[in-house]
Amino acid sequence: MSAGPRLIVALDHPDRAAALETAARLDPARCAVKVGKELFTAAGPEVVEALQARGFRVFLDLKFHDIPNTVAGACRAAGALGVWMLNVHALGGRRMMEAAREAVDRVAEPPVLLAVTVLTSMGAEDLAEVGIEGPPEAAVLRLARLAHASGMDGVVCSPRELRALRAELGPDFRLVTPGVRPAGAAAGDQRRTATPAEAVAAGADHLVIGRPVTQADDPVGVLLTIESEIGRLTPPRGGLP
Ligand code: C5P
Repeated sequence: MSAGPRLIVALDHPDRAAALETAARLDPARCAVKVGKELFTAAGPEVVEALQARGFRVFLDLKFHDIPNTVAGACRAAGALGVWMLNVHALGGRRMMEAAREAVDRVAEPPVLLAVTVLTSMGAEDLAEVGIEGPPEAAVLRLARLAHASGMDGVVCSPRELRALRAELGPDFRLVTPGVRPAGAAAGDQRRTATPAEAVAAGADHLVIGRPVTQADDPVGVLLTIESEIGRLTPPRGGLP
């Protein structure tokens, strides 16, 4: 399982052409790319292959959530595509995550397997409506513990959860965080943001960043600025480039 680049650029585009156009303005030595439900549904596995052919590592962000057998099959298919990172929903439960683990372990170069705990769009009231009482932070911690115990390599979490998860789950559990905004960048629709340096200082291994890079005039310039901000303030954690 490869440590991979610290920065992951979200290719939130509606079609293949737009995604590849953005990718052409990035440097695969400086970042991985994230393919989510919109792009994958529109453009299919072929866009993943096209990005990989251009040298990018791909985080396939499809958040699998189904019966264990089906999720195992989906993970096998993602593994056959050669993706670097993929994710499932921790709410699918222990048996589902263990089935995903087993499937991923059979891949020659196993992708990094993450779980999503609680969607950050959900507040306490949304959770109560689906039967999860208590503060969202408690549910995040509970599900992250379950993900850890079920063999996941890490979780996706918001910047505000990084410290608690790092303290609780140890140095080897991958924490991947979106909601990152370089100092001075527009927050857009993100609410609980952190700068790259803050997120890394709080324990993030990988930062998912979309619009501040994809909508920049000079995307590689933004990546370089982020790298130097992180490098200056916080040395990379062990094992990561
Ligand atoms: O453009 P921006 O930097 O806000 O993009 C962040 C990316 O991370 C988007 O692809 C978004 O869907 C994703 N994401 C998020 N918050 C989460 C999980 C994923 O913003 N909790």
